[in-house]
This record gives sequence, C-alpha cells and structure tokens, in this order.
Amino acid sequence: MSHVPDAQSPARAPSAAGDYDGLAKLLHWGIVALLAVQYAVGWIMPHISARTPNESWVSWHLSIGVAILFVMAFRFAWRLARPVALLPAEPLWQNRVAHATHLVLYLLVIINPVLGWAAASYRGWNVFLFGAIPLPALAAKGTPWAHTAGDVHIFLIYVLLGVMALHVAGALYHHVFMRDRVLLRMLPAKAGTTG
Ligand code: HEM
Ligand code: HEM
Repeated sequence: MSHVPDAQSPARAPSAAGDYDGLAKLLHWGIVALLAVQYAVGWIMPHISARTPNESWVSWHLSIGVAILFVMAFRFAWRLARPVALLPAEPLWQNRVAHATHLVLYLLVIINPVLGWAAASYRGWNVFLFGAIPLPALAAKGTPWAHTAGDVHIFLIYVLLGVMALHVAGALYHHVFMRDRVLLRMLPAKAGTTG
C-alpha cells in the first residue's frame, strides 16, 4: 500500500484550475515596475532628433526596453506552459473583456519594444540587452519603414497606457466592489491564499 507512484507530483500538474504561481506573480509585478521606469525614462530623455547621441537616458531607454521585451516574451511562454483560468465572472462578458485585455497587453508589450528597436536601428544606434549583450540591427540605418516604426512606437505607448488603465480599473473594481479574490490571487502568497 505504501508504493503509491508519485505521478501526481504538483510540480508537473498543469495549474489550469489553480492560481498564479510565484514566478508568474514575480513576472507580473516585475514588468509593472520596469514599465513604470521605462515610461519615466522615455519622457525624461531628450526629444530624439537626427543629432541626438545614444547616451545617458537614451541609452538606458534602449537597454530597459529590450529587457522588457525579453522578460515579457518569457512571461508569455511561461503563461502558455502553465495556463491559469480566470475566476468565473457574472455576467460572462466580463471574462471575455478581461481575457481580451490580457492578450492585448501581452501583444503590445512585446510588439512595441520591437518597433522601438527598429526606430533605434533607423538612427544607427546599437542596442544592448542588459547593457552588455549586443543585439543585431532590425533595419539598415535610414530605412524608411524603421522611421515609421518610431512614430507607431510613440502612438502605441499611449494605446498601452489606455489598456493598462482599463486593466487596473477592472482589478480595483473586483477588489473594492465585488470583494472577490481577483486582485488577491495576483498578490504575494500570504495575501492570495485565503480561500
Ligand atoms: C514597452 C517598452 C517601451 C516603452 C513603454 C517605451 C516608451 C517610450 C516613450 C515614453 C518614448 C517617448 C515618446 C515621446 O517622445 O513622446 C519613447 C521613444 C522612443 N523609444 Fe521607447 N519605449 C519602450 C521600448 C523601447 C525599446 C525596446 C526601444 C529600442 C530598443 C525604444 C526606442 C525608442 C526610441 C528610438 C524612441 C524615440 C522615437 C522617435 O522619436 O523616433 N523604446 N519610448
Ligand atoms: C497596479 C497595476 C496592476 C494591477 C493592480 C494588476 C492586477 C492584475 C490582476 C489582479 C491580475 C489577475 C487577473 C485575473 O486573474 O482575473 C492581472 C493579470 C494580468 N496583468 Fe495585471 N495588474 C496591473 C498592471 C499590469 C500591467 C502594467 C500590465 C502590463 C503588462 C499587466 C498585465 C497583466 C496580464 C497580461 C495579466 C494576465 C496574466 C495571465 O493570466 O497570463 N498588469 N493583473
């Protein structure tokens, strides 16, 4: 009776019906922090003109931006490997909106840094991951589409702000008015494992 195979190891079990694991939470809040810093740096750095050098705040913007790209891509892969179902909401459209919002957030936070990277290539700037690993140029210096990518980058920054506002409003609505576990289960384990 004691030889029960441990095929049910929780480490292997998919968490479709469960909650966010520690890494998913760390990645969620890590990206929130990186985005906050990145918006600040993007607005502090000088307005980019043909003669702006890739140094100081600009250089930080490129490094933090590609870090966001890689961390968010990893996060998306982690999400696909360990799916977490949304808590059932009434009415059903709320779940659809939440799901669509999450998907758009993943897409925007992956696509927009790629556009910024192309804009950097347009200016002939080298981009380094974590300030150390050189990344290839996405386009030759002066390529017209890469210039357009810079314009779209700036436009999407504001779209992302809007979608994030919707997302945060949804989370707070659940916490304050619905008083459910939606926000709690994205918080560190102590707060999130109440029920
Ligand atoms: C999600 C990540 C990112 C956010 C939130 C972000 C945010 C911003 C902001 C706020 C600006 C200033 C816009 C303005 O002047 O009003 C900007 C411009 C810019 N960003 Fe990003 N950025 C991100 C990722 C990146 C990456 C990865 C790169 C390059 C590797 C990059 C390159 C640029 C460039 C070149 C500009 C100037 C665009 C131009 O004037 O053509 N960004 N970004
Ligand atoms: C203070 C700000 C934020 C709060 C309070 C917050 C809260 C939450 C909560 C409670 C969830 C779980 C939703 C559920 O299970 O129903 C969640 C998921 C998510 N959040 Fe946020 N969030 C914030 C900022 C952000 C930002 C800036 C992003 C931008 C990338 C983001 C992206 C996501 C994504 C993609 C998911 C879905 C996770 C998944 O299931 O894969 N969040 N957030």
